[in-house]
Amino acid sequence: MSIVLIVFLSILRFTRSQEIVSPYVFADCKHLILPPRCQCYHSGHESQLRCLKSELHSLPKLPNNMRWDALDFSLNYITSVDSYVFADIYVEKISLKSNYLRRIEPTAFDRIKNLKQLYINHNQLRELHPQALISPGSSLEIFDVSYNLFQYLNIGEILVNLPMLKQFHLVSCHLNSTSIYTLLKLTETTINDTIQRTGHYSLELLDLSSNNLTTICHGLFDALYNLVELRLQHNSIRLVDNNFLRSLTKIKILNLAHNSLEHAPRLASQTLETLNFSSNHIQYLNDYFASNLPSIQIIDLDSNQQLNSTSTRAFCFLNLNSIEKLTFRSNNLLTLNTFAELLCRLTNQTSKFNVIDINHNMNLKCNCTLIQFQNYLYHFNDLTCTHQGQDRYYISKLLNWYSNCQMDFCMIRHRLIQPNYCNQADAERIVYEGTCEAKLSASEERKRLKAKFTSTMTTLITNQWFDNTTDSRNRTWIDNSTKARSPSQQRLGNSVSWNQSSLLVFIFSFLLLLL
Ligand SMILES: *[C@@H]1O[C@H](CO)[C@@H](O)[C@H](O)[C@H]1NC(C)=O
Ligand SMILES: *[C@@H]1O[C@H](CO)[C@@H](O)[C@H](O)[C@H]1NC(C)=O
Ligand SMILES: *[C@@H]1O[C@H](CO)[C@@H](O)[C@H](O)[C@H]1NC(C)=O
Ligand SMILES: *[C@@H]1O[C@H](CO)[C@@H](O)[C@H](O)[C@H]1NC(C)=O
Ligand SMILES: *[C@@H]1O[C@H](CO)[C@@H](O)[C@H](O)[C@H]1NC(C)=O
Ligand SMILES: *[C@@H]1O[C@H](CO)[C@@H](O)[C@H](O)[C@H]1NC(C)=O
Ligand SMILES: *[C@@H]1O[C@H](CO)[C@@H](O)[C@H](O)[C@H]1NC(C)=O
Ligand SMILES: *[C@@H]1O[C@H](CO)[C@@H](O)[C@H](O)[C@H]1NC(C)=O
Ligand SMILES: *[C@@H]1O[C@H](CO)[C@@H](O)[C@H](O)[C@H]1NC(C)=O
Ligand SMILES: *[C@@H]1O[C@H](CO)[C@@H](O)[C@H](O)[C@H]1NC(C)=O
Ligand SMILES: *[C@@H]1O[C@H](CO)[C@@H](O)[C@H](O)[C@H]1NC(C)=O
Repeated sequence: MSIVLIVFLSILRFTRSQEIVSPYVFADCKHLILPPRCQCYHSGHESQLRCLKSELHSLPKLPNNMRWDALDFSLNYITSVDSYVFADIYVEKISLKSNYLRRIEPTAFDRIKNLKQLYINHNQLRELHPQALISPGSSLEIFDVSYNLFQYLNIGEILVNLPMLKQFHLVSCHLNSTSIYTLLKLTETTINDTIQRTGHYSLELLDLSSNNLTTICHGLFDALYNLVELRLQHNSIRLVDNNFLRSLTKIKILNLAHNSLEHAPRLASQTLETLNFSSNHIQYLNDYFASNLPSIQIIDLDSNQQLNSTSTRAFCFLNLNSIEKLTFRSNNLLTLNTFAELLCRLTNQTSKFNVIDINHNMNLKCNCTLIQFQNYLYHFNDLTCTHQGQDRYYISKLLNWYSNCQMDFCMIRHRLIQPNYCNQADAERIVYEGTCEAKLSASEERKRLKAKFTSTMTTLITNQWFDNTTDSRNRTWIDNSTKARSPSQQRLGNSVSWNQSSLLVFIFSFLLLLL
């Protein structure tokens, strides 16, 4: 409620100030002296300066009080962005991509107005001062710093300075997990031993693909309240906390493809729709691995070349109303027998066909099960299998061989698989096993978080916290008492509601002032 009001207010304030001040005139290209290969375009209310591939070695200083839609300096030889080079202009989009930038002065973007998109990708940057973003922070929505040489970025501090940011692209920046631990900064301010949390309300897409991340632990992304898509593909992630999505109430897409996972984490999320585990080293699918994903539509397990089997309870509580595709291409599955629980539930579903893709499993054995469940197998006509461990056949051509298959698989199974074969309590409990912080009590956790900000943030979660999971069952109380809220969130919940009233008072007095 108050958030909506704040947003509304800032829009109101913004448009008012534009009406009243508005000293910015559209650059009409007429009286500008431009570098030789630059082109200025002006038509109606559109003004663009295009200096791409213009052999520039530095940025030209543009006249003050000009209003631009876009300034494109990509594909040049520019090595630095100096102080105030963009000061006192009004511009929505700046591209500096594919240059040789090594330095951006902390004041480079000071006094820039209304910048919404900033591209500094494909450069040679090793550092970026978060304070360089304070001025653009009032408006910046898309920020791309991909393909630079950072190794370390204070992502948390950058986001603190960019409260309107919707998309943050950090592809291939040589970042290790140390950088993402700075996200805790968004949630943690300690005032007299009381933890206060603010968080980020705009970010929808965070792209951290092609970095060197190794562990994704509990609470790391909790402050990104409106995150919809998280890209973590092409890292070296070995460990993912089962609960790390639980607080992200808008998350829809998680990509963990091309990492080093040996187990599929048992994630919990009310909203997640697409889950991508392709090209990892998963060998076995555990019990209940998708039981706590009620909105899931696509699970991609392609190219886990060692994946040869699943638990018979792997698909327990997989939501058949939402699921559209479960894909196991290029794995090493031998049989669909362990899929019995899922297959027999599917036969009860009237309209869910072509859900399971098991093509390109080189050791898949031909047998009745494949034929009986052909309606549920994606591209059944292309599905090949081995017969007696030797020749490969299109299963669809072998219908004669299996013409006298007994079609009572589910009947038999049904007797074996009791009504309570899948156990809801186990499914909920299991989420809390094997997580990064399963062993930390609330007070230890708080101590650790605090320590992080006094140290250099390099002491990350180490194995000792997740190898020993003997007392993890202890954490099931979270489910009973607070329903999908971690203890830390509860603290947040309280302080937010406490502060909401004061915020409201503040907003109303502000409104009164305006009128
Ligand atoms: C992460 O990278 C930074 C900067 O290169 C380095 O100082 C730090 O030791 C690295 N941390 C880990 C856990 O590898
Ligand atoms: C913090 O503690 C100091 C002394 O312990 C006290 O004077 C101050 O009022 C406290 N501040 C807040 C915000 O509680
Ligand atoms: C990732 O980190 C490991 C050890 O921390 C290091 O050996 C490796 O070179 C790093 N890879 C990249 C692409 O930075
Ligand atoms: C999973 O991620 C890989 C790599 O990014 C991509 O090629 C693939 O299309 C993704 N799968 C789905 C279902 O989006
Ligand atoms: C799956 O592969 C692992 C090792 O890669 C092996 O130990 C196991 O027996 C295999 N399981 C099946 C069902 O073949
Ligand atoms: C199919 O649905 C019916 C009624 O909902 C239920 O009694 C039966 O157990 C279901 N069969 C399977 C295999 O799930
Ligand atoms: C299918 O093949 C598997 C593996 O050889 C076997 O265990 C299973 O009994 C077969 N199923 C049927 C219905 O023949
Ligand atoms: C788990 O940790 C406790 C104390 O930290 C220790 O006594 C116990 O032996 C550990 N268990 C395992 C399986 O490592
Ligand atoms: C939970 O942990 C506490 C102390 O760590 C212990 O006293 C208690 O017995 C545990 N409860 C269960 C159900 O394991
Ligand atoms: C949690 O709820 C389950 C079922 O509702 C119950 O069996 C269990 O004892 C509860 N655990 C605690 C710690 O209250
Ligand atoms: C917000 O709430 C906390 C604790 O609930 C309180 O200490 C703090 O003073 C409040 N802040 C404002 C601005 O009211």
